[in-house]
Amino acid sequence: MSRIPQETVDQIIQQADIVEVVGDFVTLKKKGQNMWAPCPFHHEKSPSFSVSPAKGIYKCFGCGKAGNSLQFIMDIEGIGYVDALKYLARKYAIAIEEEVTPELTQAQSEKESQYILSNFAKDYFHDILLNHEQGKSIGLPYFKDRGLAMPTIQRFELGYSLEAWDGLTAKALAQGFQLEFLESTGLTIRKEDKKYDRFRARVMFPIHNLSGRVVGFGGRTLKSNDKTPKYVNSPESEIYHKSDVLYGMYQAKQAIRSQDLCYLVEGYLDVLSLSQGGIENVVASSGTSLTEGQIKLIGRYTKNITVLYDGDAAGIKASLRGIDLILEGGLNVNVVLFPDKEDPDSYIRKVGDTAFKKYIDTNAKDFISFKTELLSQEAEHNPVKKAEAIREIISSISKIPDSIKRAVFLQRCSVIFGIEEQVLLTEYNKLMKQERPKPASPTIPTTEPELTPQPEDEVAADDAILLHHEREVLRLLVNYSAHQLPEGEPFLPYLLAQLEDIDFKIPIHARLITLFQEVVKQSSLVSPDYFINYPDGEIRQEAISLLTDKFELSENWETHQIFVPRETDMLQFAADTAVLRLKWRNVQQMIKENAELLKTEKDFPEIMKIMTLIKTLQQYEVEIGAQLGVVVVR
Ligand code: UTP
Ligand code: MN
Repeated sequence: MSRIPQETVDQIIQQADIVEVVGDFVTLKKKGQNMWAPCPFHHEKSPSFSVSPAKGIYKCFGCGKAGNSLQFIMDIEGIGYVDALKYLARKYAIAIEEEVTPELTQAQSEKESQYILSNFAKDYFHDILLNHEQGKSIGLPYFKDRGLAMPTIQRFELGYSLEAWDGLTAKALAQGFQLEFLESTGLTIRKEDKKYDRFRARVMFPIHNLSGRVVGFGGRTLKSNDKTPKYVNSPESEIYHKSDVLYGMYQAKQAIRSQDLCYLVEGYLDVLSLSQGGIENVVASSGTSLTEGQIKLIGRYTKNITVLYDGDAAGIKASLRGIDLILEGGLNVNVVLFPDKEDPDSYIRKVGDTAFKKYIDTNAKDFISFKTELLSQEAEHNPVKKAEAIREIISSISKIPDSIKRAVFLQRCSVIFGIEEQVLLTEYNKLMKQERPKPASPTIPTTEPELTPQPEDEVAADDAILLHHEREVLRLLVNYSAHQLPEGEPFLPYLLAQLEDIDFKIPIHARLITLFQEVVKQSSLVSPDYFINYPDGEIRQEAISLLTDKFELSENWETHQIFVPRETDMLQFAADTAVLRLKWRNVQQMIKENAELLKTEKDFPEIMKIMTLIKTLQQYEVEIGAQLGVVVVR
């Protein structure tokens, strides 16, 4: 481990000017004492994001995010404290002398060595492309041929690898790099006593991590008839975890945030062509099929993904797989397919930037329309096929974590297929039953309950789910503490009353609930400001963070004619659902705990007591589950 000395930290914070730091990400305009911009943390048209040069802080009056320069960098880059300090240190050219503590691990120095070597290799390939005979006569013309101009080549740091066995290996060794790291990054392959370059006679695409450091490469052959594979890629290494990396993310992240949309394509060339054509919010999963980690990564910048895939069978299959994964990740997904034999790269080159943009705008379909159209041709006159298609779509809908969104999509599906919602709900509930762990049977277990020992991470997952459900209830409390239900009943007491028999397990949540119960005695409508300005810092932070958990439906849904209710219109529904979910979770937890007790209990009367309790809990679980089934999809 290494530590940044306190003096350096102070120096960095002192020098980091809030206007300069924020100004790198948004365009600030002066108005009165402060500077203003559209908020980079949430989607909006009129500026509610302000920077106070005097106080050295920023604050968004829309989403509530606030803090100093350091906090801003942590939030906007999605990085931790130390990395944010390093970012600012680089910006202000402040040298960081890290105190290297003795535990500096092998792994860390290995990682650093791999970064340095990868950077060296990137510079080497880039230099060959621009200055070496082979680069100039083979690599560069190839890129030009594919329509890539110099600024794009520079921005993505493209390169060329020599037609030679050990161009890079020899050069790197001569420069003092160790063979060990050449091998562990996969740049050099060693077989018995021979060692040679992995990348030979290929155009090179360096892959960057979020902070712009090179972690790996893709290399494309220029030969079309060869036995050699079209692309060769770096293997996994300490610094390159393929499932968490997206090609182009470093160059795209700002545009993704400001457009509140990410285009997802398949290949390196697709990213480059689109980016060059002015569509900069584009990344590629490049080769591997899309992963949960990659979706999480996008989710840090936007909740909206539009998938741009080939229109061939493989592309359609990849889109379908991608859709479900994206929905499961809680993000919104649209799909654009290209005419057969075209991919985004070939299509934008064929029709030009403007026509391309128009094409994706007019052809973007939400996943229901996409699936419907895909399946409808065969389904139209074939009832069996039609039922299959509907099940397919409902299965996708069931992946959506957010209950309101699910309800909206079910409604939409019912309209499209002209089938009563009730029929769809029945189908939906059937599916949910299959996918959930079997509901516990309400009979007394005659043998030991079926329980396997819980692995560690399952326990952690339990905690995360509990945290999530508790948080959702608190989010509603904090955000709508000054709201009324349609009949005029104040929302706060309505929700609090339902929470009386629930123990909140997370301490800060329990504290907030207690505080709410106290203030509601004085007034049934409480302004969110009450907790934002609360003297206790921990409460204040939690309240701010709950206020900034944005409701996920974004405005641009409306452009796709999907009816999206505002959360305030469905407050009672949202509250009822959240409470039921939390209760359901708690009951399940209690069943687990008691079943655990049963394993070690030797005393017979005690065993009978626990079993009776479990039975009661299981009945309760079934009841709540049933209510939830109705409520969730009402
Ligand atoms: P494509 O075959 O669609 O290639 O593979 P491409 O990117 O469109 O390249 P061009 O236009 O033919 O030059 C899509 C992506 O899949 C990965 C690469 O990341 C590629 O960009 N891939 C493909 C591999 O990793 N290995 C392969 O052999 C082929
Ligand atoms: Mn292509």
